[in-house]
Amino acid sequence: MKAMAASAYGPLEGLKAMDLPLPAPGRGEVRVRVVASALNPADYKVLLGKMKLLHGRGRPLVLGYDFSGVVDAVGPDVRERSPGDEVFGFLPYGPFNQRGAFAEFLIAKTGEIALKPKAVSPEAAAASATTGLTAIQSLRDLGRLPASGGQVLVTGVSGGVGSIAVGIAQKLKASVTAVGSGTGLFLAQRLGAVKVLDRTKDDLAGKLQSELAGQFDVVFDAAAAYRWREWRGTLKAGGAFVTTLPSVTFAIDKAASLFARTRVHFVNVKSRPADLELLAGWLEQGLEVPLAATIPVRDLAQGLAQLQKSGGRIAVRVADGF
Ligand SMILES: NC(=O)c1ccc[n+]([C@@H]2O[C@H](COP(=O)([O-])OP(=O)(O)OC[C@H]3O[C@@H](n4cnc5c(N)ncnc54)[C@H](OP(=O)(O)O)[C@@H]3O)[C@@H](O)[C@H]2O)c1
Repeated sequence: MKAMAASAYGPLEGLKAMDLPLPAPGRGEVRVRVVASALNPADYKVLLGKMKLLHGRGRPLVLGYDFSGVVDAVGPDVRERSPGDEVFGFLPYGPFNQRGAFAEFLIAKTGEIALKPKAVSPEAAAASATTGLTAIQSLRDLGRLPASGGQVLVTGVSGGVGSIAVGIAQKLKASVTAVGSGTGLFLAQRLGAVKVLDRTKDDLAGKLQSELAGQFDVVFDAAAAYRWREWRGTLKAGGAFVTTLPSVTFAIDKAASLFARTRVHFVNVKSRPADLELLAGWLEQGLEVPLAATIPVRDLAQGLAQLQKSGGRIAVRVADGF
């Protein structure tokens, strides 16, 4: 099979098209013929050697966590999936992930996939996976949004996680305030944010003290650019600050938050079929996955450079992209 791969950690330009052996599914696994994937900051962070623990020791390095495609073979004892099923999913971060989605075929566990709704494009399904699961698990599980919805603030709204989180928060019946910059502000408005703050212009620090004080059930720092101590005054009693990356003061903030009657969490996204099925239902009902671009997989290095520079969700065409 063909894959975009690097023989070792290093610069993005190290990614080349390679011919690799076709993997065989083991017990509880399926082989997926990949149609589409999507880029995540984790791809360039791992490749550059900044987060080696997010990927296994398999070489060459085939990255790519998000995918949609067609089941092509099933391993022993797999009954819940059959060849021909159209699926999508997220390969979990970690040392057991040896081969990723920037390849013609991948191996996934049955617990890492769900059926792709027919009406949803392979690109949108793939691009919804990591970011959608991260938003669901941050807002619903860690944030513990009230069943009636409540008030959510989302940062990094032009980014992959932030943009889908605006829609997902509304699916969870919340009202959204968005923090972003540039065209992301228009995007957030279009996606239904009731209030939009420009992090480059608005007096954010002043607003945190005054008009935003005590407003939010959840502050979801999708951009991983802020700290609980800056936002604590905006949380309701019992409210949560959820970040996608722990800051250097995370442990201190977590302890201090207990005394402030608020909560601090770091999300570590998990691949869960029930959450993928929830996402699939929402996609079918029109949940938007905003895409900044769609690229063929052969342009992977350029796509990762664009993501590193500007953020935003970039879908990847794999099936016809080599
Ligand atoms: N822990 C986990 O399980 C998990 C899962 C998924 C992602 N992540 C992490 O979550 C982060 C966001 O992921 P992503 O896919 O959304 O990345 P992305 O597409 O690169 O988006 C990041 C966004 O952050 C905002 N931003 C950039 N610089 C900023 C600054 N100096 N101050 C404030 N905001 C800034 C920008 O949006 P605006 O210009 O609109 O503000 C940008 O679009 C990444 O670090 C990623 O590695 C973690």
